[in-house]
Amino acid sequence: MSISSTSASAYDLQAFQTNLRTAAIGRTIHYKASIASTNTTAIALAQEGACHGTLVLADAQTAGRGRRGRHWYSPPGRNVYCSIILRLPAAQSSHLTIIPLASALAAADAIADTTAIQCRLKWPNDVLIGDKKVAGILCESVAGQPDTIVVVGIGINANSRPEQFPDDLSASVTTLIAARGSAIDRTSLLSILMNRLEERINQLSPETLPMLLKAYRTRCATLGQPVRVALSETDVIEGVAEAIGGDGSLQVRRHAQPGSGRPTRVVEVRSADIVHLRTMTDAGSMG
Ligand code: BTN
Repeated sequence: MSISSTSASAYDLQAFQTNLRTAAIGRTIHYKASIASTNTTAIALAQEGACHGTLVLADAQTAGRGRRGRHWYSPPGRNVYCSIILRLPAAQSSHLTIIPLASALAAADAIADTTAIQCRLKWPNDVLIGDKKVAGILCESVAGQPDTIVVVGIGINANSRPEQFPDDLSASVTTLIAARGSAIDRTSLLSILMNRLEERINQLSPETLPMLLKAYRTRCATLGQPVRVALSETDVIEGVAEAIGGDGSLQVRRHAQPGSGRPTRVVEVRSADIVHLRTMTDAGSMG
């Protein structure tokens, strides 16, 4: 294992190494006490040739990024902020669209292993406890490289309290300490997360993909729900989330248009903000 660190670690990186069961993920670590965004650093490292599985870990982020340009609350000493560089062989790169779902599943697996809390997933990759968001994933592909490279950024709200989040988020988020009632050992959570992520990424093959998708569908809170889908700022549809496609897309049966007389249509959604209409909680608005 190779570790580069610019300051004393808030994590126990030796214990992390002892608990790691992976072949590649998390074997090379770049740790910083404070960083703008682990995803931004991971993208730069990938462009410089960093190897498959490289983990960028920070105790705090000053410009943590969420999906759709949102900010990710990243105070020091409390939560998990990490990014993993995946260099994908051609066989796995055809399953690129599944990586966000596989990563969310790995985060839910790791939370279950660490706390016994069974999270649900809001399509595509929000991790929920009840209807509140406890973790988020930001996958970014790295352009201009011969390999297919994806950076998987994972943020888990571990030991912050929901009331410490900015006002516009505190009602829609939860944290592991709030759900479990006791503090989380971030080192242990992180090593289990790396183990689980590697297992799920290894399932990106034609033989094992059905197993991965079955596990995702079992945890998916969006399936069967009435949803509002913002395809763009101006294109918003409503319907029922009927299925997850083999490429990870969400299949939404649109509500019948009053008086149209036409049959309802299924729309395949590949990228969008989703609101679960039953609870009217837009957990996706946090990151
Ligand atoms: C979301 O909007 O739900 C995605 C949030 C992803 C946050 C993580 S924290 C570690 C990594 N670095 C970032 O800047 N973002 C991701």
